[in-house]
Amino acid sequence: MKTLVVLTGAGMSAESGIKTFRDMGGLWEQYDIMEVASPEGWAKHPEVVLEFYNQRRKQLFESSPNKGHLELAEMEKYFNVKIITQNVDDLHERAGSSNVLHLHGELKKARSTVDPSLVYELDHWELKIGDKCEKGSQLRPHVVWFGEAVPAISEAEKIVKTADIFVVIGTSLNVYPAAGLLWNIPPGIPVYLIDPGEMNITQGLNVTQIKKKASEGIAELKKMIT
Ligand code: OAD
Repeated sequence: MKTLVVLTGAGMSAESGIKTFRDMGGLWEQYDIMEVASPEGWAKHPEVVLEFYNQRRKQLFESSPNKGHLELAEMEKYFNVKIITQNVDDLHERAGSSNVLHLHGELKKARSTVDPSLVYELDHWELKIGDKCEKGSQLRPHVVWFGEAVPAISEAEKIVKTADIFVVIGTSLNVYPAAGLLWNIPPGIPVYLIDPGEMNITQGLNVTQIKKKASEGIAELKKMIT
């Protein structure tokens, strides 16, 4: 079986009703990144940061995987599918994908602020001031903030190098190191870009652009490669 490596971003979940970050009306138009998604913001007003992620988590509990997530899960019939996602939602997993690496953390998990190895599953949407880990320190969202390291990046680089086919879905490729994963694509292999927006990354890559929303784009990709 060939290995299909897929890099997904916020556009993958847009059809589930989850806002992207940089599109018109996106989250970063509504919120100041440094206020809600940085260690500085957390030090200044943890309650504002918790509330931002609580709203995202509440919405996630009310959302479902879209047709695109389901189609990608189905691809496991034909390929060894490895998904690397920048998304903090769990919609790939809920659609049935069995191999998902989260680069930017997971919304449904919380983490200790004194011991990063203490990570807890959340079965409710609200994380509050006063919610503590077993060592007595405040819990924070288990997500990567701006200015923080991306611990999963070296594993992601290894995965990219195993690709026979590489697919990019719904990411503006604005954020590093995630966007730099493309530098690890084996030379010459087919690369498919699924995004309704303008993309400009064809340099040195064997790219086919499918200028469609994730659900339609993945259906089209399936016809092309299976
Ligand atoms: P962006 O909001 O930067 O980009 C979203 C991309 O999805 C754009 O290229 C859109 O054209 C595309 N898009 C919109 N609707 C779509 C649809 N229905 N189907 C397919 N594509 C669609 O989101 P990301 O690239 O994921 O990080 O952002 C990367 C990181 O920046 C996020 O993980 C987050 C953010 O700040 C952190 O918070 C650390």
